[in-house]
Amino acid sequence: MLDKKVAELLNEQINKEFYSAYLYLEFSAFFEDEGLDGFANWYKVQAQEERDHAMLMFQYLQNNNVRPALEAVAKPESAPTDRAKVLQAGLEHERYVTGLIHAIYDAAYSVKDFRTMQFLDWFVKEQGEEEKNAEDLIKKMELYGDDAKGLYMLNSELAARVYAAPSLTL
Ligand code: FEO
Repeated sequence: MLDKKVAELLNEQINKEFYSAYLYLEFSAFFEDEGLDGFANWYKVQAQEERDHAMLMFQYLQNNNVRPALEAVAKPESAPTDRAKVLQAGLEHERYVTGLIHAIYDAAYSVKDFRTMQFLDWFVKEQGEEEKNAEDLIKKMELYGDDAKGLYMLNSELAARVYAAPSLTL
């Protein structure tokens, strides 16, 4: 039986992960509109990963006999207008999500819910990777984004990102 608070936080996280998918789809639409299909692809793949995160939380609750309660997914805050600001917003969003995952971990830790802590270990690692990816993207944009040829190469690199199913299975 999952602790009530832990179950509540996990349930809320389903919504936050779907929101993340929504946010990255918004970013993808922005970049597609800018003619940067590689950046658009990168964020579309990111959106798929976020959906996976939500599905893992959903499944974990079900595996522990908790019925997920689905709430409305919010509209992304504001339509992006600036390439660099979009990348920065992506990094800030990942830092925010890291905080959320840590808060669930903390709640599980406080009630000695070792099973949930083990489940969340994957997410803790994943957040580290996602923050690093977002930071790397910002660095590359700062280095090459102002040069047409550099931007073309960076866009081509991002076009090569392919979706892979999560390494965590439940
Ligand atoms: Fe689901 Fe980007 O964290």
